[in-house]
Amino acid sequence: METSFINGSRLLERLQRLGQMGRDPAGRLVRVTASREDKLGRDLLVSWLTAAGLEVIIDRIGNIYSIWGEKEARTIAPVMIGSHIDTVVDAGIYDGSYGVLAGLEVIETLQAEGFLAERPIMLAAFTNEEGVRYTPDMMGSLVFVGGLEVEEALASVGSDGSVLGQELSKIGYAGHKDPDFQKPAAYVELHIEQGPILDHEGVTIGAVENLQGISWQKITIEGMANHAGTTPMAMRRDAGYAAAKVITFLREYVTEKSPQSVATVGTMGVEPNIINVIPSRAVFTVDLRNPEATHLRHMELALSAYLEELSMKEGVQVSVERLAQFSPVTFDRAIVQRIEEAAARLGLRSKRMTSGAGHDAQMLSRVCPAAMIFVPSKNGVSHNPEEYTAPEDLIAGANVLLQVVKDLAG
Ligand code: HGY
Ligand code: MN
Ligand code: MN
Repeated sequence: METSFINGSRLLERLQRLGQMGRDPAGRLVRVTASREDKLGRDLLVSWLTAAGLEVIIDRIGNIYSIWGEKEARTIAPVMIGSHIDTVVDAGIYDGSYGVLAGLEVIETLQAEGFLAERPIMLAAFTNEEGVRYTPDMMGSLVFVGGLEVEEALASVGSDGSVLGQELSKIGYAGHKDPDFQKPAAYVELHIEQGPILDHEGVTIGAVENLQGISWQKITIEGMANHAGTTPMAMRRDAGYAAAKVITFLREYVTEKSPQSVATVGTMGVEPNIINVIPSRAVFTVDLRNPEATHLRHMELALSAYLEELSMKEGVQVSVERLAQFSPVTFDRAIVQRIEEAAARLGLRSKRMTSGAGHDAQMLSRVCPAAMIFVPSKNGVSHNPEEYTAPEDLIAGANVLLQVVKDLAG
């Protein structure tokens, strides 16, 4: 079987075009779930799917699918590829979009060469992978695999007070298809690494064999507003100070006790947020991750114990809301091997690795054999407009995806 290749220039051109969709007046990429900006990206993707002659299916949580394969083959479980096109705020143009557009490239290449697939190929762009506006993250794929009822997901209230179902209707992506309409035979997701390993080691392909566990919590600390000038330090119930102690605790815990973990306080606000008033309230989020479920659990328990101690010591009330909790997953060995073999056939170096970031593949692995292909992120930068992957690496990754899909569907 002679090797076929995707249309690299079309992939690169589409990545640039999709990357321009959903920018704010300051020019930042903000395709946050179910926003007007998200709609712009969705509409462009749908126009490309339609132009490729593919049927477009939208399910009730707004996941976008196309299935390529003979109509009668539809009863056969498909090989699924895809990722997400929603972004964080001030995002790069590759996170998620690359896997969706490379997946479209794979289908258009197989179409052009008249590939005789024994299985349909199903492309997905999942809703709300980032979890920026509505939690949990990886929401669309979680609903697709039956891990979250679609009604509950549609009722999610966003960080801006909006309701997901209503926002999806507003942008025209509240589909009618029940999300559990198809169970794939396998799922392969191509994604930028978003970390520094491949770039630093000069390796082009990551054969991702596992993905770390994720714990997201929202913490509210209630203290007491008081005068910044007259209140003695020992009499303060300073919610802002208590929150700062939590951030320091997490950094020290990871450094001294759990070096494989990562801990991030990404959002924080204090009230009344006035220069001469001691903060009465602090609200912030904690993102904890570790490849081992037990270590992640220990870190959660250590934080919980620290919050108890802090509330006594500082005279503050602490409340915790769980936003997301996903166990580490181990991907399918056979698919990981196919990724390595495909890379070798294409003369590309590959390396087995763990994903630090959460991905839709983490959800799909609950219902079918799944694995991921990574390509290098320059200096490991992501969730940042400086996110960059060299064109030759983007094309190489898509060609590995093409080979793996042909192996699985051939
Ligand atoms: O948080 C993550 O790892 C992913 O980008 N949603
Ligand atoms: Mn992503
Ligand atoms: Mn991301």
